[in-house]
Amino acid sequence: MGGEPYYGPDFGSLQRQDPEVAQVLLDELERVRGGIQLIASENFTSPAVLAALGSTLTNKYAEGYPGRRYYGGCEVVDRAERLAIERARKLFGAEHANVQPHSGASANLAAYAALLQPGDTMLAMALAHGGHLTHGSKVNFSGRWFDVVSYGVRRDTELIDYDEVRDLALRHQPKLIVCGATAYPRLIDFAVFRGIADEVGAWLMADVAHPIGLMAGGAIPSAVPYADVVTFTTHKALRGPRGGAILCTEELAGKIDRAVFPFIQGGPLMHVVAAKAVAFAEAMRPEFADYTRQVVANAQALTEALAGQGMRPVSGGTDTHLALIDLRDLNVSGAEAERRCAAAGITLNRNVIPYDPEPPSITSGIRVGTPCVTTQGMGPQELKEVGTLVTRAVRHPAGAAEVRERVSALLAIHQPYLSEY
Ligand SMILES: Cc1ncc(COP(=O)(O)O)c(C=O)c1O
Repeated sequence: MGGEPYYGPDFGSLQRQDPEVAQVLLDELERVRGGIQLIASENFTSPAVLAALGSTLTNKYAEGYPGRRYYGGCEVVDRAERLAIERARKLFGAEHANVQPHSGASANLAAYAALLQPGDTMLAMALAHGGHLTHGSKVNFSGRWFDVVSYGVRRDTELIDYDEVRDLALRHQPKLIVCGATAYPRLIDFAVFRGIADEVGAWLMADVAHPIGLMAGGAIPSAVPYADVVTFTTHKALRGPRGGAILCTEELAGKIDRAVFPFIQGGPLMHVVAAKAVAFAEAMRPEFADYTRQVVANAQALTEALAGQGMRPVSGGTDTHLALIDLRDLNVSGAEAERRCAAAGITLNRNVIPYDPEPPSITSGIRVGTPCVTTQGMGPQELKEVGTLVTRAVRHPAGAAEVRERVSALLAIHQPYLSEY
């Protein structure tokens, strides 16, 4: 046969052939190494996940499922998908797993396609209160194709108003209830949602794109025992490749699989499926459980530090990997805070807060998260300092250079992609 047994990414060849794109890769690495990444939905994959992603599996067409493909030559990639499915089922204690959704939004589209017809009623969290675009926003397919009823958080506690959820469910008799959020710092009571869904005969879907990694590591309770369908992304706290996945009961397995392929997608991305398998195996290790506990402890240390310096956390704190900070007392908008932090070497995103008087392009808040900094090896002590740096960057834009120096000092010890994590 000849040739080495492995053929993989050759950065030298990219540099020679396409220096412009090669430079993008170098600059992006320099960007993440040169700043603190507090985007709650991001993480740094392991080198093993990156290796699977950069593999020749990207070449293979494999429409269908293992053992039932519409293309020849799938016997090898079948092994990758079977591993990913089995590992996902074991990791989450799920009856069935579909690992083909290209993203979290695709996973949600497939779940809706499996459970609803256009025009059906679904009940989900309002975008303005922390829900996701795919939970019924008017600018998204979900808001256009379904009759969406939205619930939110209480004004006083800023926690999900379960009484409102129940009242709306009883009044509107939705076919599907969606729980899960993109900017909600607290635990969601999946048992209460299950009870409400049972009371009105609705399916319960948990979109746990954000906290699934924490559930995998056991740092927070899992949605899997309660929901009929669980959708998630693999690239956030879970540390896998950019992608989505769905868990469901055996009863819904056929419907979910047919909804993913052939209803909403064509061929799966087999290099990503292999990388998901790698990430699921990593998440089964005891070190990953420690990592997820550290992510939460770090988020709490960061949030306490921010709160202690006048940066009010929505709902008073966090139980997860993220916090939402209300900046109204500082008279600084979320957009301005995002800019000021960027100037100081800290990347985070503006975010609406519940009952926000500002539009989403401006906002009154910022969202911070700790998956990246925890992967870099930072602990609560460093996160306290990060809290001080964020506060200084937001309050005193003229001192950005000083903050940047301290950011560099922290990063000199904790840089991503310098050693194996
Ligand atoms: C709750 C929730 N659902 C779905 C998604 C969509 O994921 P993706 O960007 O992979 O489509 C996100 C992304 O942040 C999310 O937070």
